[in-house]
Amino acid sequence: MPLDPLPYDKHLTDTLDALADRGWAVDHTLFDADLIAALRASCEARWQAGAFHAAAVGRAVNEARREDIRSDAVLWLDESDSDPAVAAYFQRMDAVRQAVNQTLYLGLAELETHFATYPEGAFYKKHLDRFRDDDARTLTAVLYLNPDWPADAGGQMRLYLDEACTQHLDIPPEAGTLVLFLSDRFWHEVRPTHQPRMAVTGWFRRRIGPMPW
Ligand code: OGA
Ligand code: MN
Repeated sequence: MPLDPLPYDKHLTDTLDALADRGWAVDHTLFDADLIAALRASCEARWQAGAFHAAAVGRAVNEARREDIRSDAVLWLDESDSDPAVAAYFQRMDAVRQAVNQTLYLGLAELETHFATYPEGAFYKKHLDRFRDDDARTLTAVLYLNPDWPADAGGQMRLYLDEACTQHLDIPPEAGTLVLFLSDRFWHEVRPTHQPRMAVTGWFRRRIGPMPW
């Protein structure tokens, strides 16, 4: 898949401005329909092959399955994935990482990513993406893979816009929509979905450790 490292400069600028101003942004242009369709096919094939596992909450010793909190299934992805669509995803997200670092100085170093499938009825209750014992996750990036998502199908991401959660935005998981937000600031949830729902969920992590001086 041919790939220009920063193919949508104008739109990326808008996204970067939104992130700088308010800490979240919704983009519809960074991932074109062909790449989304290829990612969707890849996600679906691996789902059919039984490669997913039930998602957990927390990490390391705090990791636990909590089906009362989240009922999706995930498959972690690697940059060395043999599927060109997954490789293109990582390349494009790396362009986003570099652009964000140049304008917001977040020091994003790497991306951890999984495919997520929400079967009918699945949800993810309100949460923050930063773990109690690991504050490296800095910027969340959720990319949706569902073409023609019906308005009454549920499955929206509810993004709370203030810390007290008095205001929110419901974002349908429509193919090509990329939601970016600061991982430690924005509470969010996945509303129960009435049909299967697929996404590529990523977290840019910053370097953790002693300062080099
Ligand atoms: C998550 C998450 C949101 C979504 O996996 O942490 O919040 O819309 N996902 O899939
Ligand atoms: Mn989340």
